[in-house]
Amino acid sequence: MHLSRHKIFIRLRRTPNQNKKPFSPPAFSAIKLKIQIPPIERGVYTVTLRPGMAQDRFKQETEALKNSWARHKSVELRGYLVRGVQDPRINFQSILTRHFLIDRVFPGQFALVMEQELRFSLVVNWLLKLLKASVTGDQLSAVLDALLDDEKNADGLQIPQFISQTFASLALPNYICDLFTWAPVETTDAPIQEYLLNTFQAVWRELLENERHQPVSLLEPACGSANDYRFIDASGIAHFFDYTGFDLCEKNIRNAKRMFPDMRFEVGNVFEIDSPDKAFDYCFVHDLFEHLSIEAMQAAIAEICRVTRQTICIGFFNMYNGAEHIVKAVDSYHWNVLSAARMKAVFERYASHAKVIHIDSFLLSRFGCDQTHNKGAYIFIIKM
Ligand SMILES: C[S@@+](CC[C@H](N)C(=O)[O-])C[C@H]1O[C@@H](n2cnc3c(N)ncnc32)[C@H](O)[C@@H]1O
Repeated sequence: MHLSRHKIFIRLRRTPNQNKKPFSPPAFSAIKLKIQIPPIERGVYTVTLRPGMAQDRFKQETEALKNSWARHKSVELRGYLVRGVQDPRINFQSILTRHFLIDRVFPGQFALVMEQELRFSLVVNWLLKLLKASVTGDQLSAVLDALLDDEKNADGLQIPQFISQTFASLALPNYICDLFTWAPVETTDAPIQEYLLNTFQAVWRELLENERHQPVSLLEPACGSANDYRFIDASGIAHFFDYTGFDLCEKNIRNAKRMFPDMRFEVGNVFEIDSPDKAFDYCFVHDLFEHLSIEAMQAAIAEICRVTRQTICIGFFNMYNGAEHIVKAVDSYHWNVLSAARMKAVFERYASHAKVIHIDSFLLSRFGCDQTHNKGAYIFIIKM
């Protein structure tokens, strides 16, 4: 359906999949249309929303979102989402997204390394927690001694099982000895050295160096200042993809372009993606949907599903296992708590399958780790 200022066109296209539910965007009913639709044959139809509509409908929200991100200095935007627990080198959603990408081009080939990288992030996150609680250098040495002696207790500090198991299972560089020897507890600014945080970037670069694959297209809406892309690049994953990133905030795009002048980073709006249907093989999005009104979020979901041919990987930071979304307006935008079940149902309108991964439950069942910093973190894998 195309809505311009003066004209309305409707294109109804029958889809072959009779099992899919008809798509009727919630935004649709809010628009009063005085048109006669001729009787149509019973069946399942796809309604295609064309440019012009979302721009008008969400104009105010778009402006508010633009302003809320643009008020930050460029240097803050470049750094604030890649620090501490948000650092994509140790953030589970970012790691799982990179694994999602690697698995798209080399399915099943690197399962062992993926497991080891997740364990690495468990160890670093535990160490960060200790550092935050003002652990001393002596205590860290005691942890290392206890691990080497296969003991569970380091001078009164209980070592979680997922740490000792990881230590016992190390199949790659023994970063644990370095982490617990060199963490400079005197400073909180950079509590863990870069070279240690980069451990798995180096591993992936080496492993992927000689691999070959035709580039597949990849879209990242709300890419920020290349917050994830810079680590995808540093891990040697980027050249398997023909990547496009866009963000509403010009400062973010300027930052991204400064880091990657030859890459396609553009100012763009997820309410209206400037690309034809099915233009991209894959898409990933992190930490965007919670910041949108429910209506705008539905439009954004329709858009990313429209432009993606195969699979979408979505990271959420504020989701729960409840039946309804909890809408919270903060300043001029949103900080909603999204219902996992509701979101799954929305994606199932467009997709053949929606897989929901609750990070906390995943880490508990896979590694026996009950210490995730964000119980509201989820990943959705949407198969179109
Ligand atoms: C919380 S940040 C997440 C950034 C990045 N994805 C990450 O995980 O580090 C949300 C981002 O969404 C962008 N954004 C907000 N509304 C948007 C819209 N309508 N279209 C595109 N980007 C949008 C903001 O500019 C901001 O960079």
